[in-house]
Amino acid sequence: MKRILGIVASPRKVGNCEILTRIIMEAAGPDNKLEMVRLTDLDIKGCRACYSCLTEEAVCVIEDDLAFLLEKIRNADAVVIAAPCYILGPNGSIKKLKDRFVSIGNKFAHFAGKPCVTVTTYGAPNWEGYAEQALNLTARFLNLNLVDSAVFFGASPAEVIEKPAGLKRAQQLGRALFDPDYRRTPKENECPVCWSDILKFDGINVICPFCGTRGEIMAQGEKTQLVFYPKDDHRFTDEGRRRHFEVYLNRKKQEYIDKRKYYQKLQDPYRGTSYWVTPDKRE
Ligand SMILES: Cc1cc2nc3c(=O)[nH]c(=O)nc-3n(C[C@H](O)[C@H](O)[C@H](O)COP(=O)(O)O)c2cc1C
Repeated sequence: MKRILGIVASPRKVGNCEILTRIIMEAAGPDNKLEMVRLTDLDIKGCRACYSCLTEEAVCVIEDDLAFLLEKIRNADAVVIAAPCYILGPNGSIKKLKDRFVSIGNKFAHFAGKPCVTVTTYGAPNWEGYAEQALNLTARFLNLNLVDSAVFFGASPAEVIEKPAGLKRAQQLGRALFDPDYRRTPKENECPVCWSDILKFDGINVICPFCGTRGEIMAQGEKTQLVFYPKDDHRFTDEGRRRHFEVYLNRKKQEYIDKRKYYQKLQDPYRGTSYWVTPDKRE
């Protein structure tokens, strides 16, 4: 028996994300223990940028449901994450959660290697934006083993499974959790590290904005093709994470402590301005 956790980042009850999550979890195999959490119902507060979480022993000081969610993920054998596209990106509960991942940046071993699939749903043709790529970062920063991800069209609740192909694809995602034969491999013209087809271009190289992998646009006869040069210490490797969350952030924190008085002096002319406006208190 395996424990599968479904994280649904949609406020809509029995909506597309919820239905897909159930189908995926149920398709992973019989006799598993299935649990779902609705991310939008959890109390996940915004990161306060206090940086007190940066040592391996320290946990986030904010008292809310983050610890509950992380414990659920830690205890799961596999994770499904589903989010609807809202204004071209994943529902905001995903960003709020990811911002809190600074607190687990140097505890990445806790979640390592658990198979994960993500699904993104969207309701307007060609309006899926960067939602899938941004959602996949949730799995990458948790150090889960992202084995497949897919985007489903559906504006009305349950529309994603109106056609048999939708149901079939969801079941495939479920099988991918524990069966290596169903796992996704990188496609042509997408980043081989994080599967993103969203790219930056510096005039010479294309750069994946998510993992930082560089590549080139190559002419191949009549066609052009993207060729990537993945490094074995990119952002989502243990070394890449350590370099950012342990070395860089702790160094910057120490630098701030050492130069605090100097930075405070730079801040001084900007203190006490009276431009702030706040809404009237509601009854
Ligand atoms: C506030 C809001 C913003 C949305 N923005 C987009 C969008 O930018 N692109 C898109 O294709 N669909 C958009 N949609 C549609 C949803 O992504 C779509 O209906 C999705 O399947 C809902 O999933 P759910 O049933 O699990 O909530 C938006 C919906 C809402 C409520």
